[in-house]
Amino acid sequence: MNNKKLQILSKSVLGRALSILGFFKGYDPLPPAYVALYLTYRCDLNCPFCYQDKSKITTFPDMTLEDAIIIENNIRKSLWFKPRVHFFGGEPTISASFLPIFKLFAGKGYSLSLTSNGHVGKYAQEILNTAGRVEINLSLNTMDFGKTHSVLEMFARDSGKKNVRINLNCPINRDNCGRLSEVVDEFKESHVESFVFQHPAFSQQYNIGLDPATIEKQVGEIGKRKYKFPVLFNPRIRARDIKSYYAEGPFPVSASKCFYSWVVLLIQPNGDIAPCEMISAALGNMKNASLKELWNSKEFVTFRKSLLERGADRPPCSRCCHKRYP
Ligand SMILES: C[S@@+](CC[C@H](N)C(=O)[O-])C[C@H]1O[C@@H](n2cnc3c(N)ncnc32)[C@H](O)[C@@H]1O
Ligand code: SF4
Ligand code: SF4
Repeated sequence: MNNKKLQILSKSVLGRALSILGFFKGYDPLPPAYVALYLTYRCDLNCPFCYQDKSKITTFPDMTLEDAIIIENNIRKSLWFKPRVHFFGGEPTISASFLPIFKLFAGKGYSLSLTSNGHVGKYAQEILNTAGRVEINLSLNTMDFGKTHSVLEMFARDSGKKNVRINLNCPINRDNCGRLSEVVDEFKESHVESFVFQHPAFSQQYNIGLDPATIEKQVGEIGKRKYKFPVLFNPRIRARDIKSYYAEGPFPVSASKCFYSWVVLLIQPNGDIAPCEMISAALGNMKNASLKELWNSKEFVTFRKSLLERGADRPPCSRCCHKRYP
């Protein structure tokens, strides 16, 4: 079975398993499998399509190593297993605390991953020296691919040990929408685990008005070609839904659900937890309360219950890549 079929199968098995969580009415009997650790909201780039709310840069100053130590301690004492820890931002690797926090979690035996615009190349040697496995989602945010090729080159030195795995992430936007097949071709000889195109996640002004016919044509073109790695589209919408996905107004999929806040623990740079990146709710702080209490606090259970009741088909959930598309 190839990677693509495996992904589809695991997604449908996972989808069924997640649906069972709905019976608990917002209570989550399982601990988070995945921790999204937001180290900073600052970034060295200013991509015009970026969905991130820049006001968070002042609301949330960068995470400090001291706070990360408290947070790690809380996770370890509250859970009976080590979740995957994913470093996120802004650009997580521009934080002065990135390397010390990375080493802290690596030293405690967590499996680690991160999403980066390429700045991660600065720490290639330190990451290659990490004992455990590290997964890097490298974003292709511009049509200038020189930096990405040089980062891939730096990590290729690891080819013997195979402890660093790289996925390429390409957000579909105004600059690249007519050249998607060209973008994959650019990396056809690269050693990457997968190539993932991101349909525009949120209704940034910049992302409105992309021509769905152009995108459909590109998706078809890519489907005809053979690559060494799987080429995926996220969210996994059906070909016939591309037109409505790119139209203005709410995406007309009424049966969609989202179990992100059952599976992922999102931790802000100050230790606050949040149900997801687009929704802020006062759910407590990892520095003041045990994760055991926070995970099924009255507030968190109420949030999940309300999401079950209202569904995930209205803003800010419309076009979110985290919800399950039918
Ligand atoms: C917000 S960035 C943060 C991490 C890092 N700065 C980077 O660019 O990889 C996370 C991911 O979202 C993607 N992205 C940004 N804006 C997007 C949008 N409007 N729609 C879909 N993906 C988007 C980026 O390409 C990146 O892969
Ligand atoms: S590099 Fe990432 S966080 Fe920074 S502006 Fe671009 S997409 Fe947004
Ligand atoms: S679908 Fe809604 S609740 Fe789920 S992650 Fe997206 S914005 Fe948050």
